[in-house]
Amino acid sequence: MPPGTAHARLAAGPRAAYRRAVQIRPATASDVPVLLDMMEDFNRIEQIPWKRADGEAPLRTLIGSPDLGLVGLCERGGSPAGYFILTWGFDLEWGGRDAFLTELYLRPELRGLRLGEPALRAALTLARERGARAIHLMVRTDNEPALRLYRRAGFLAPPRVLLTRPLS
Ligand SMILES: CC(C)(COP(=O)(O)OP(=O)(O)OC[C@H]1O[C@@H](n2cnc3c(N)ncnc32)[C@H](O)[C@@H]1OP(=O)(O)O)[C@@H](O)C(=O)NCCC(=O)NCCS
Repeated sequence: MPPGTAHARLAAGPRAAYRRAVQIRPATASDVPVLLDMMEDFNRIEQIPWKRADGEAPLRTLIGSPDLGLVGLCERGGSPAGYFILTWGFDLEWGGRDAFLTELYLRPELRGLRLGEPALRAALTLARERGARAIHLMVRTDNEPALRLYRRAGFLAPPRVLLTRPLS
């Protein structure tokens, strides 16, 4: 494991509780089925219309394309505990690469145990290590645990509204 990487720091960091709590590693193609299971629940919570059959190909593309982003798999005791997804953008406002945390998810039985914090910390570290200067995310206004986690980690709402238009 290369020293100084997020993975290495999580494994060797001083906070033993976190080390026991959750380990993060880049997802591989063999993790796709378990990731799709978790993504089904994530998109249901987020009320995003999403179909497993349509989601698999872009997930495989992302896992195989570090230039697009990365998928982090969270494990606890060797079992899948959750995941996060980072994708890269480029914004002159931030002087270069920025990151979008498009998904952060823990399995239902592992929520409320403060495992979100080390998972989020790993996502921020990995984004920084890959050159991102800022990180963005969207969160539902009624998702109180997520809002509290993100605010505690320093996320702020800019005085702008995100607008989206499909291009298909
Ligand atoms: C959002 C998520 C990653 C947070 O991780 P977590 O480990 O469960 O969060 P924590 O245990 O650290 O709790 C976060 C905060 O929410 C509070 N909280 C926990 N459960 C809560 C609940 N049911 N209602 C209100 N607040 C709650 C905690 O007290 C804590 O607040 P504090 O930091 O002010 O003390 C996790 O709950 C999850 O995966 N949820 C489902 C997917 C999701 O919503 N992802 C985010 C989409 S943007």
